[in-house]
This record gives sequence, C-alpha cells and structure tokens, in this order.
Amino acid sequence: MPQLIWINGRVMPLAEAKIGVEDRGFQFADGVYEVVRIYDSKLFALDEHLERLARSSAGILLTMPMAAAKLAGEIAALTARSGVAEGMLYLQLTRGVSPRGHVFAPEPHQHTLLFYVMPLDPPAAAPPGVKLHRVEDDRWQRCCIKSIALLPNVLAKNAAAAVGADEAVFVDHGVVTECAASNFFAVIGGKLVTHPVGAKVLPGITRQILLELCPSLGIPVSERPLRESEALAAEEMFIASTTREINWVSHWDGRVVGGGSCGAVTRRLHQALRERVTG
Ligand SMILES: Cc1ncc(COP(=O)(O)O)c(C=O)c1O
Repeated sequence: MPQLIWINGRVMPLAEAKIGVEDRGFQFADGVYEVVRIYDSKLFALDEHLERLARSSAGILLTMPMAAAKLAGEIAALTARSGVAEGMLYLQLTRGVSPRGHVFAPEPHQHTLLFYVMPLDPPAAAPPGVKLHRVEDDRWQRCCIKSIALLPNVLAKNAAAAVGADEAVFVDHGVVTECAASNFFAVIGGKLVTHPVGAKVLPGITRQILLELCPSLGIPVSERPLRESEALAAEEMFIASTTREINWVSHWDGRVVGGGSCGAVTRRLHQALRERVTG
C-alpha cells in the first residue's frame, strides 16, 4: 500500500501531494508542526500534542483551520488507514499560499494543513547511552513555539553528527537549555533538574509526562536554569522526546559523564514512562 497523506482535507499517496511554490511555509518557514508517537496502532498523548499545536499556532498569529476534535478524528482515521502499528505522525500547518511578501494578509488564511504516518522501530527495552555535542545556543527567544524554522537545530545536529555524537546540546551563556530535538535533564543530589520551558525551551510532551510522573515516584523536581558545570558534575543526565522516549547520556563532548552507565533515577523514569505508554 502506498504511504498516504492527508492534505487540506484530501487523502492521497504521499508521492502525489503538491505544495505551492508560494506557500509561506516553503518561503518563510511561516508555520508550526507536531510529531505524535504511534504505539500499537494508537496515537499516544494526541490531545496534549493538539493543545501544543493550538498554542504554537496562536504564537504565530495563525488561527487553527478546524476544531481540535475534528482534527483528532481525521488524524485517527488516517492512522488507521496507514496500517502502521509502530511509528509517528508528522503534522504541519502553514499560513498557506499567497503572493510573496513578508506581511501576511488578514484572516482568513488559506492554510496548508497536512499530516502523514511513518513507521518507526519499536522502542528498545534498554536503549544505549547517547553522546552529546555542545553547541552555543544561537536560536531565537521563542523556542516554546514548535516552529518549522529549524535551521539552527539542523546545523547543530549536523555538527554533532560530524564528530560522531548522537545529539547536540544547546548551551546559552553557560546555561544548558535543551537539545536540538529533545529536552535535557540532570539528576543532582537525587533531584531531577531541567530548564523551565519558555524563551529557550520547548514544552516537550515527553518532558511534561515525566514531570507528572515524578511525584508518584518520589522524585523531587526543580525546574530552574542549569549551569553547564553543574550538568557535567551531575550524577545522571538524560534526554527525552516523543521519538526517543528517554536516552541516558554517556558522553559530553567526548568525555564520559554520569559514571558511564544508566543511572537509577533515569531507569525508574524510563520504566514509569513505558508503563504509561503500555497502560
Ligand atoms: C527542540 C526540541 N525540544 C524538545 C523536544 C521534545 O518534545 P516532545 O517530547 O514533545 O517530542 C523536541 C522534539 O522534537 C524538540 O525539537
């Protein structure tokens, strides 16, 4: 069966979908996106993703083209038709096609809304440690918007790949913010520390779920800026995202960190997240 895409209300093979040259997403990165995980043919945390999509959309002064409940229904229907049991749904919303110009026309905009499903490997029971590559955080001050303008993240991730690392970690004037495509966490004195969401940190859905799980696990949490020197001395470090779940950090710029093995707090959170997924 060909890979299907839902685009502006029509379902067709992905290879046949077309985007206008003057789509503002293409010319200005004028749009937002979401990535939703599919486990066992079910969309995980879809409501949370659609709530963030609405916030991102409002953040760029773009009205959602349809109600969340209707969108959720369309997404569920395409996911069922795709036949993908383990995978992810990519959704993108742009301000659509209009004659090129920085100033956008008043509403209503001719949105481009699309989503499609991609298969992924099922999550590993004991994921290996990841190597981080430190990059100066030169992104804009509105990282809480899940914008499709990802060039700084793309360049950071490529810099990481070029030195054999798995992920880039952003450091903003000595403070660890997040990674190119995941949130960053450290365990310091038994407490889970992560930078607050906002100007420099995306409100990750996985991050949100992990912080919700902490009280029942008896893990204290501190949402505060975290200095690079503190992170390097932390008992444990891990990163989290929809597609990764949780990965413990084994190296930071080639240096072994966190004792070089997956720490106890990371392991407990990973197990609790897996239980949340399968439950
Ligand atoms: C910059 C950034 N931070 C954090 C995350 C993690 O967010 P989520 O858990 O919603 O996947 C992502 C995911 O793509 C990301 O791109």
